Amino acid sequence: MLTAAWILALILSIGVILMIAYAHWIEPTLVQVRRYCFWHEALPEALSGTRLLIFSDLHFKGYGSVEQKKLQNIIAHSRKLPSDIQLFLGDFLHDDGGLSSVKTLLQALPPAPARLAVLGNHDYVTYDLNRVIFNLVPDMKKSGALGQRARRLARRLYEIWHLSTALALDLPLRAPTKYNDINSLQEQLQRAGVQVLHNTTWDWLDKAPDSLQFVGINDITEGDVNDPIALAPASKFRILLTHNPDGVLLQDWPGVQLVLSGHTHGGQIVLPVLGSVHSQGTHLGRKNASGWRRSNGRWLFVTCGLGESFPFRFGCRPELVQIELRRDHCPGNQRKSGWQTLDVTGNRNCSSYLSPVMSLLKPLAEGLRLRARIKK
Ligand SMILES: [Fe+2]
Repeated sequence: MLTAAWILALILSIGVILMIAYAHWIEPTLVQVRRYCFWHEALPEALSGTRLLIFSDLHFKGYGSVEQKKLQNIIAHSRKLPSDIQLFLGDFLHDDGGLSSVKTLLQALPPAPARLAVLGNHDYVTYDLNRVIFNLVPDMKKSGALGQRARRLARRLYEIWHLSTALALDLPLRAPTKYNDINSLQEQLQRAGVQVLHNTTWDWLDKAPDSLQFVGINDITEGDVNDPIALAPASKFRILLTHNPDGVLLQDWPGVQLVLSGHTHGGQIVLPVLGSVHSQGTHLGRKNASGWRRSNGRWLFVTCGLGESFPFRFGCRPELVQIELRRDHCPGNQRKSGWQTLDVTGNRNCSSYLSPVMSLLKPLAEGLRLRARIKK
């Protein structure tokens, strides 16, 4: 006969299995839209009202129903969001297979006067986490002399230990790598009218000459980084694009008022009470893995991004972000600069562990409302 303890253990086990299934198949597809107002007194009047649409960390692999559903949701949302500049903050790819999805997305997006991008670490390399985690047993079954097997086992155990400690201590995750075809990606982006800011600047001359400058740096872990603004003329308002938010630490960045970043995935797995599991080892730490903050006298915004490095998301839905730049205060604020949420589809905070519960309850509530309407 089942005791109360066994029943409880059974319920908990079913709950954990359902949570894992939800994190693997459902939450990664639940793309939400966050719209912000960002104001700064240094913004030239002519640029007030400029809308930036931000895509980051797509991590396309080119296969799987989750990626297809997510892709369709991103396209559907972005078609409803008019923008002046589309910004891509890196990690288009998880591996080379994702090139086809990048092409599909760029062809389906609504046109915008400008499209700018910076590259991320995953655009350069594929980190083979599966090899570390799941190939231990198959590796041991491979034939070979005892010494060879022992060396293989020692190498795998070292990789697992290295990965576990990096995860526990919130350090950058390192794993065996394979180089991606970065040239094909850049050609693809160029064909779609996306200008990659590879340690360079871009001025929006059409709207207000010499008054808005985007500064884009290459990925700081896998790419080569040079100072793009050392020789550039001074501009009234500069926005720095850096895939990894640690790019903000590289130097003083004169004239930069706003920094836009991705890379952290908002923690990607955000557990009740414990919070973000990992911030990709950035200086922000687990507690500040996404959102707005001041950093060295300028604003830094880190998006939760749209994709996953490890194929699970929990309590941190993928997000498409629109930021409206304003010179005047956003409603209800009087400071010289700042940000305000305009609206969000889905949960208010991408670090909120209530999001999965709410997203499961919402269709149920809508279904009940529909039934009530039909009865009337
Ligand atoms: Fe990423």
